[in-house]
Amino acid sequence: MEHESGAPAPAARLTAKQLQQRVQDVTADRNQLLAIFASMREGVIAVDQQERILHINEAAADLLGIAAADSIGLSLAGVTRLRPFYEAMLKTLQSSTPVTMEAPFGLHGRELTIEITTRPLHVGGGAQFGAMAVLYDVSELRRLEAVRRDFLANVSHELKTPLTAIHGLVETLIDEPDMDRATQGRFLLKVQSQTVRLTNLITDILALSRLESQPDSLRQELIDLRDPVAESVQALAPMADAREVSVNIQVPDTPVPVAGDREALRQVVDNLLDNAIKYTPAGGRVDLRLVLDAPDAQLDVEDTGIGIEPHFQSRIFERFYRVDRARSRELGGTGLGLSIVRHTVMAMGGQVAVQSMRGRGSVFQVRLPLAPPAGSPPKA
Ligand SMILES: Nc1ncnc2c1ncn2[C@@H]1O[C@H](COP(=O)(O)OP(=O)(O)OP(=O)(O)O)[C@@H](O)[C@H]1O
Ligand SMILES: [Mg+2]
Repeated sequence: MEHESGAPAPAARLTAKQLQQRVQDVTADRNQLLAIFASMREGVIAVDQQERILHINEAAADLLGIAAADSIGLSLAGVTRLRPFYEAMLKTLQSSTPVTMEAPFGLHGRELTIEITTRPLHVGGGAQFGAMAVLYDVSELRRLEAVRRDFLANVSHELKTPLTAIHGLVETLIDEPDMDRATQGRFLLKVQSQTVRLTNLITDILALSRLESQPDSLRQELIDLRDPVAESVQALAPMADAREVSVNIQVPDTPVPVAGDREALRQVVDNLLDNAIKYTPAGGRVDLRLVLDAPDAQLDVEDTGIGIEPHFQSRIFERFYRVDRARSRELGGTGLGLSIVRHTVMAMGGQVAVQSMRGRGSVFQVRLPLAPPAGSPPKA
């Protein structure tokens, strides 16, 4: 009697348990797979032969500007504005042909470049039941490639200009041996100034490339920031005098300790001060103010010069960028100074900013984290 109406036989109970285990395993596998898809930076999207969405991860939904959860079962044509992507999927569905391509795509006012790869979907070796695509935003990659290309073109151009000048000057000196000594002297001085320019340019390029490829290569000495500021003011005083620009300096009575590379910091102050003097007409003034503003040290370099219009202010920190190319070149500039400033300050954990008004003047502000002074007692 017990057997007929009681609990199931032991063998059957075991099978149910196994079944439950199997379901749990499959669910776990599925959740793992979904977690993997969800965490991918690449967008993944799968559709059936009728172009209905079977699966879409967050990254793909973001790229296509749709909500992942609401789009399952919807027709692909209805959810995407990325036409080349839709056409690639269609081709893969219709002819089992994988497609790899890049397409421009405007999203939320940004111009993106999307890499699209599609593949047909089969179960085992069976019939095709749909297609899948991987979407990858390669905009940043392409932008960096363009920056690199521009950089190379700029470097070549900047090197060529002084070399062409030197070539012409030397050629004339060779062709005209009877040239009077005074003219000869003038030519040689020009050759000299062009070689100085070439050397400066190459020094700057090397400094920048070192900062970019090995930002950690900067030394970490304990420095009193008042020192590079004072040194810089002293070194550039003759230039300021010659241009009739007065330079005033205001520093605290106590040390301003930062951990950094002394040479590199000196170059930061040199570049900012050089700009302030260069871009300020005679009779103007430049103020350097160093203040302790815990947890940072703050250096302001303020001038009463020509100023910078708002739409140029973010660009002047780019390599080779100059608001007025001809004017900067005339002053011996290559447009690398502020780029070096920014890279150096960032490598030391700081920030640089600018405030400026055209015709009024500019303030460049550097903030660097203060270091505990040397010999400060270790924390208990
Ligand atoms: N204090 C300033 N006042 C007005 N314009 C400035 C000032 N500092 C920089 N600029 C603008 O920003 C541009 C970029 O400055 P940056 O120091 O990088 O290059 P540069 O001074 O032209 O050349 P380099 O520093 O290589 O000698 C300058 O060409 C100039 O147009
Ligand atoms: Mg400069």
